[in-house]
Amino acid sequence: MSKKLIKNIKQLIQVRPQHHQLLKGKEMGDLPIIENAFLTFDNGIITSYGHQFDCPNESQFDEVIDATGQLVLPTWVDSHTHLVFAKNRADEFVDRIKGLSYEEIANKGGGILNSAKNLNETSEDQLFEEAKIRLENLIKQGTGAIEIKSGYGLTVEGEIKMLRVIKRLKTHFKLPIKATFLGAHAFPTDYKQNQAGYIQLIINDMLPRIAKENLADYVDVFLETNYFNNEQSKQILQAAYKYGLLPKIHVNQFTAIGGIKTAVDNKAITVDHLEIVTAEDIEFLKTSDTIPVALPSCSFFIQIPYTPARELLNHGLPLALASDFNPGTTPSGNMHFVVALACIQMKLTPEEAINAATLNAAYAMQVEHEVGSITIGKKANLIFTKPLNHFNDIPYFFADNLIDKVYIDGELVT
Ligand code: NIG
Ligand code: FE
Repeated sequence: MSKKLIKNIKQLIQVRPQHHQLLKGKEMGDLPIIENAFLTFDNGIITSYGHQFDCPNESQFDEVIDATGQLVLPTWVDSHTHLVFAKNRADEFVDRIKGLSYEEIANKGGGILNSAKNLNETSEDQLFEEAKIRLENLIKQGTGAIEIKSGYGLTVEGEIKMLRVIKRLKTHFKLPIKATFLGAHAFPTDYKQNQAGYIQLIINDMLPRIAKENLADYVDVFLETNYFNNEQSKQILQAAYKYGLLPKIHVNQFTAIGGIKTAVDNKAITVDHLEIVTAEDIEFLKTSDTIPVALPSCSFFIQIPYTPARELLNHGLPLALASDFNPGTTPSGNMHFVVALACIQMKLTPEEAINAATLNAAYAMQVEHEVGSITIGKKANLIFTKPLNHFNDIPYFFADNLIDKVYIDGELVT
């Protein structure tokens, strides 16, 4: 059963010709659709689409799917997650309700070090089983490509274990998965007084092993006050570059300390978070190919400012959206909610938010040749919504489950 036809699609969303570009500034306001459309795919690859009026003869297909009343769009691309972790941190959530800040919780032994302790006590098999269930859930919520970071090991063995789990997820699942090495997520307790020693551990012990086992596609650093400074980050990024790992960086989440310049100078693919952005940061971004990535579910959950997305777009910059799924700041990988928050809180239009969570998000994890739009030659990774009138309804119904079904590689996810 390989040749499939979807007919009577109410709106086929994000239809792009081949070789499309990353969308910047005003371009993000345009979301091409076909009303009353058909779509065909063969062996999981999109082969044609158009107006229902031009729909090919049904007899040519192994399966015909009727999408009357439904919207069809490319699956979400989630370019920033910490999907592999050992335990949730609901107790810290309660501490925050009672008034403690993210920083105060970290200072009393919570935060990233809490997750690292739990992860080092958990076997690779168990981490894999739990991450597998999380990813199955995310796919049902419409995610059709995902980036996953290490960073809860903070020891050579812990980081390798996490990256091996991600490697196993890559073989188990059909959706595109990218792995990012985030050994520089926090200084482990043993190295609090010897930061240079931890940087050396990353550079001399972690990176060579990760490269040898081919465990990572990217490198990340939490470039932030009380975490990794510009000089330390630069050392790690330059060492990783020798192994072919390009940066995707956590930066400007709480403070602006010149990290965006460091990221841009080191050829970062993306700079993620950017809740705090200065005029100077924007100028550096304008000189670069680095893509800003906003994570509004994180802002929502820990109540920090939202990335000034309108300002970034007004300066002609591109923008991608991602979930930041992790047990501390964002215990949700629901990209529909991300898109809704981007509209409600960051004042993106539905067109801009959907572009940021599909096509631009695909660029943010370098899978734009495979996913992110309805394009001949790309994967049939598709969301069918429940009956809706218009793509504006997607962010509008912010808390409803709007998904009827999901296809990955042209196969129905069950
Ligand atoms: O993206 N900011 C750094 N890393 C994560 C949070 C990690 C954690 O609290 O476990 C983030 O928000
Ligand atoms: Fe993150």
